Amino acid sequence: MKILITAGPTREAIDMVRFITNRSSGKMGYALARAAKDNGWDTVLISGPVNLPPPEGVDCIMVESAKDMATAVKKEAPAADVIIMAAAVADYRPKAVFDGKLKKQEGGLFLELERTEDILLYLGEHKRPGQTLVGFAAEATEVEANALGKLRKKNLDWIAANDIGAAGCGFAVNTNQVTLYSATGDRIILPLADKFTVANNILDIIVKGKR
Ligand code: CTP
Repeated sequence: MKILITAGPTREAIDMVRFITNRSSGKMGYALARAAKDNGWDTVLISGPVNLPPPEGVDCIMVESAKDMATAVKKEAPAADVIIMAAAVADYRPKAVFDGKLKKQEGGLFLELERTEDILLYLGEHKRPGQTLVGFAAEATEVEANALGKLRKKNLDWIAANDIGAAGCGFAVNTNQVTLYSATGDRIILPLADKFTVANNILDIIVKGKR
């Protein structure tokens, strides 16, 4: 069985030296890749820029922007039995990338942003029979309603939701507490634990019945 996992943030260039990004550390996605590998899965990890060593035995593809990640994911997705999008893909990028280094001027600077492609939405629209698609929802409010909305809109089989305001959750920490929702109505509250334990719990649940 082959599993594709994405991790980390993306970087969206403003000019040659500056970019827009987010606080994702990549720890959850890397823990999932390590857990998948330990469970005997043929594992591909597509990662944005992070400060983590590549997990041993995992086929790692490093990318920078949302566009790079979309290209890499679309190439790897057809062969994957399970896809977990744990990456915090930027929703917006600067509309025009300044050629060279932008010089400061008097006054403010208006930066026009445009939407990036929603990779998970694309995967949901192109899901092949038997493929399991899993998304993440990091929510600050109305966690369940927002997560269920994403599950349906993106045609996912599972979504792992977390409340980024809750203790022990969120971006740079080593622990996480997620609730898994399935397209068939399951709602499974996983205990707060280190990200490797959470990763193993997530894999146990979503791959049940797939082997
Ligand atoms: N995702 C993606 N491509 C994007 C943005 C997000 O594949 N361009 C994936 C993430 O990997 C994650 C899920 O979609 O699995 C997150 O859903 P999303 O609706 O993008 O959540 P937010 O980025 O938090 O946006 P918002 O809540 O504002 O809708």
